[in-house]
Amino acid sequence: MDTQTTSPATNDTVVKTRGLRKSFGEGHVVLDGIDLEVKTSENLVLLGRSGSGKSVIIKCIAGLIEPDEGEIFLFGEPVSGISNDEMNKYRIRLGFLFQNSALYDSMTVRENLKFPLKRHHPVLPSDEIRKRIEESLESVGLPETIDLMPSELSGGMCKRIALARTIIMKPDIILYDEPTTGLDTITAREISELIVSIQQSTKCASIIITHDIACAKLTSDRLLILQDGKIGAEGSFDELSESKEPWVKAFFN
Ligand SMILES: Nc1ncnc2c1ncn2[C@@H]1O[C@H](COP(=O)(O)OP(=O)(O)OP(=O)(O)O)[C@@H](O)[C@H]1O
Ligand SMILES: [Mg+2]
Repeated sequence: MDTQTTSPATNDTVVKTRGLRKSFGEGHVVLDGIDLEVKTSENLVLLGRSGSGKSVIIKCIAGLIEPDEGEIFLFGEPVSGISNDEMNKYRIRLGFLFQNSALYDSMTVRENLKFPLKRHHPVLPSDEIRKRIEESLESVGLPETIDLMPSELSGGMCKRIALARTIIMKPDIILYDEPTTGLDTITAREISELIVSIQQSTKCASIIITHDIACAKLTSDRLLILQDGKIGAEGSFDELSESKEPWVKAFFN
């Protein structure tokens, strides 16, 4: 599994990590050498037990947590140890869908979508802003919610709006932290289908953290399973779900 390479990522590699290590407090080792790669347009699903470090991995990739050791390459460039200003150049190409949707409660859907656009593209003409808001709401199937407040939306709708707010930035990769948690089976399936349709229409890559095996099956091109701070297993959904290893099988029961 460990390829031992230290070469920079190739052009079609959107994210690559090498030897990522992270501990918290006194010797609580969470990541113990994570090597992963995500290719252009690839949906990579990350499985692992609760507390195994899945969220820590994507927070390291997004520059929200500093790893203790190891290298991260975004779009072929090493980003470990770069300044916050320099990191912003990469963050704009990297969408993050937080588990709690993280919409601004005091803003309408339109304002929630406009906010990141204005912040990162201050000179974008208002026509273009309007068009991008309408298009991204259309992509998540909720154009009629444009003037609603988040408190007027269901949990599943909030998830879709959060996704619209992510894709409006036209990212090259989206990091999804448990996109279907807390949703009923049918709504969860709709969100999983949306993830696939966004991948197909935008050619954007993704890392999808999930405990929802139906979501993993539907969205994954490839899966990784975290175990003891390392990548314990890697393969397609069919390969892993048919594994003879009891600890791997346990994820698919
Ligand atoms: N900022 C932090 N400070 C201290 N410990 C942290 C911090 N962030 C994460 N941890 C610890 O790291 C471990 C992994 O956390 P992480 O959130 O990555 O788990 P996870 O695999 O995403 O779990 P879940 O499936 O429950 O979301 C946990 O033991 C957690 O307590
Ligand atoms: Mg988590």
